[in-house]
Amino acid sequence: MTQDELKTLVGQAALHYVTPGEVVGVGTGSTVNKFIEALASMKDRVPGAVSSSEASTARLKAIGIPVLEANEVGELSVYIDGADEIDPRGHMVKGGGAALTREKIVAAQSRRFVCIADESKLVQTLGAFPLPVEVIPMATARLVRQFAALGGQARVRLKDGQALVTDNGQHILDVTGLRITDPLAFESEVNQWPGVVTVGVFAHQKAAVCLLGTPAGVKTLN
Ligand code: 5RP
Repeated sequence: MTQDELKTLVGQAALHYVTPGEVVGVGTGSTVNKFIEALASMKDRVPGAVSSSEASTARLKAIGIPVLEANEVGELSVYIDGADEIDPRGHMVKGGGAALTREKIVAAQSRRFVCIADESKLVQTLGAFPLPVEVIPMATARLVRQFAALGGQARVRLKDGQALVTDNGQHILDVTGLRITDPLAFESEVNQWPGVVTVGVFAHQKAAVCLLGTPAGVKTLN
């Protein structure tokens, strides 16, 4: 099976976690795009979605699902999103699509995070994937030095030769060379560095369920 087919498989499997009649939280990325495609089959039973990015909002609207503001709704029963890395305890690295801040906001508003990914995303220890960190641009040089002190090399993410600008008007640092053995402590520490908007470690908002696409079918990790 191709990676694309594995993503389709878990995108469809995630439908089982959507409660008919309830608003659903929707993440960002190529795996979530498969989930949104699958969601079209039950759009008459989904009153709306809270979306984590402009890209997912456009796709949800295109299939006829109303997109609601996070502030308009209360707690969501479920948030469905992908990940760049997942450890066996459900801690994740996210932000490859630069949507990490809104993803963390919607995840925090949801009772259950259901992570969907192909099995290549499962790792023993987080850190091989360059860690995305959304930052206020005036803090960039100092934050690069702070990551260097931890042994990491941080680079500003570029798009078309310019610093990428997120949906929130900020920049992304991608940090290589880290080995994140205590994701809860790491997330707490980096999040309080001045100028950090959001660090892409999702340990406090970890996945309750991971649906991993494998050639043998969907593997569920709880
Ligand atoms: C976007 C994300 C994505 O969930 C993550 O990058 C995985 O994306 P994909 O499903 O395309 O592999 O965190 O900010």
